Amino acid sequence: MTSPMKRILVLISGNGSNLQTILDSCADGKIAGQVVGVISNKADAYGLVRAKEAGVATAILAQQQFASREEYDAALLALMADYQPDLVVLAGFMRILSADLVRHFAGRMINIHPSLLPKYQGLHTHQRAIDAGDDEHGASVHFVTEELDGGPVILQARVPIFEGDDADEVAARVQVQEHSIYPLVVQWFCEGRLQMRAGSALLDGKQLGPAGYASE
Ligand code: GAR
Repeated sequence: MTSPMKRILVLISGNGSNLQTILDSCADGKIAGQVVGVISNKADAYGLVRAKEAGVATAILAQQQFASREEYDAALLALMADYQPDLVVLAGFMRILSADLVRHFAGRMINIHPSLLPKYQGLHTHQRAIDAGDDEHGASVHFVTEELDGGPVILQARVPIFEGDDADEVAARVQVQEHSIYPLVVQWFCEGRLQMRAGSALLDGKQLGPAGYASE
C-alpha cells in the first residue's frame, strides 16, 4: 500500500524561488508530497504569484494587523494548523518565530539559510562571508528549533567565493545550490527518512553530523 502524499505548507516573504523548485519537484513526482498552501507575511511577495500559477491556496498575514509578536504568532499558528501540514517549509520567510510556534511544529519544520551554519546566523550572510575573507560559502537546510538558525543541520551545499565577488554574485551562486538541496531534503522528509530526535537530525535512523549529510 502506498502511503498518502505528505501535506507541505510553505511560508515565504519574497521572491519564492525555493518555493518554485519545490512546486516543480512535486509536479514532476520527485517529491512524494503536495504543497497544500503558501502563507506570506508580505502582500507583494512574488512567491504568491508562483503559488497561484501552480493552483495552490495562498494566504497573507501581515504584521501590521497585529499589536504584538505574540498576537501575530497566535494567528499564524491557527492559520497554519488549518492546512493540517505534515511538513512546514520556511522558504525565505523573514520573521523570527516564537518559541510556542516552533515547539508546536518541532520535527516537522525546516528552514533554508544562506550560510554554512553555524557560521553567519542572522542577516547579510553573503557580505559577512566576503568581509571575513572566506573563500567558501553556501547554504544549509536545518530543522527549526527555538534557537534562531541554530537547529540541527540536515544538508549543506558549498560554493566558492572568488576574488572581487560582490554579495549579489555570491547570493546568486548560493541560490543555484539552494534549489538543488531544498527539494531533496523535502523529499527525504516525505519518504519518512528524516527525523529530529533529542536535538539531532537523523536520516534513515542515523544521526547526522554537525554539517549534515555527506559532508567531507
Ligand atoms: C534564500 O536565499 C534563503 O536562503 C534566504 O532567503 C532567500 C529566499 O529566496 N533565507 C534567509 O535568509 C532566512 N534567514 P527565495 O524567496 O527566492 O526562495
